[in-house]
Amino acid sequence: MSDALKYLMQIRPREMEDYFSFLKNSGKHLDDKTKAIISVITKVDKQTATGFRQYLKRALALGVTANQIIDALFVAFPTLGLSKIIWAIDILLEMDMAEFGPEAMREGLDWHELIQEEKLMSGVSMIKAADGKELFVYRENEDIRVYDNRCPHQSTPITKNELSGLELTCSLHKWKFDLRTGECLEVGDKPLNMLECKIENGFLKAYW
Ligand code: FES
Repeated sequence: MSDALKYLMQIRPREMEDYFSFLKNSGKHLDDKTKAIISVITKVDKQTATGFRQYLKRALALGVTANQIIDALFVAFPTLGLSKIIWAIDILLEMDMAEFGPEAMREGLDWHELIQEEKLMSGVSMIKAADGKELFVYRENEDIRVYDNRCPHQSTPITKNELSGLELTCSLHKWKFDLRTGECLEVGDKPLNMLECKIENGFLKAYW
């Protein structure tokens, strides 16, 4: 807290209490991601580098995407102006985060939260992920694999009904896959599309 706020708390405690209560209540209908984006923009406006880094990481951990952060900076252009946006981008580049890499941004690639790690049992799970994507997740202890459910033959979606044990058979032309490796076992010649994944803050995330 700044010295000015501390001073005001001392000399006008009731008014300041009302003020903080107003701030708290005024955001009660906003979801966590929206609040996180607003906090990031506030830090850019005040140009507090430590706060910006901290709130940016928090926003990303809550599932805000790199593209949403850049969009928010542009939307706030009338109040931030170009110099503050450049200031924020310089810090972003220093932080060297994969999410903000030019290739990932151009292609709209990002990390997507799938499921809490503790809910991910050994075996195979079918997950309906964000952005309408459906995925198969195979876990054996620390080995976790995430596969796109679209068949590598003709992109037909494969459903959980087509799963038998650890084998997945696309009903259209009978390509059969091993979910432990993603390899095609019968009929076809291409593996399932495996996505990069990681555990972060207790969640399984995949990159697409
Ligand atoms: S589309 Fe899946 S096997 Fe042909």
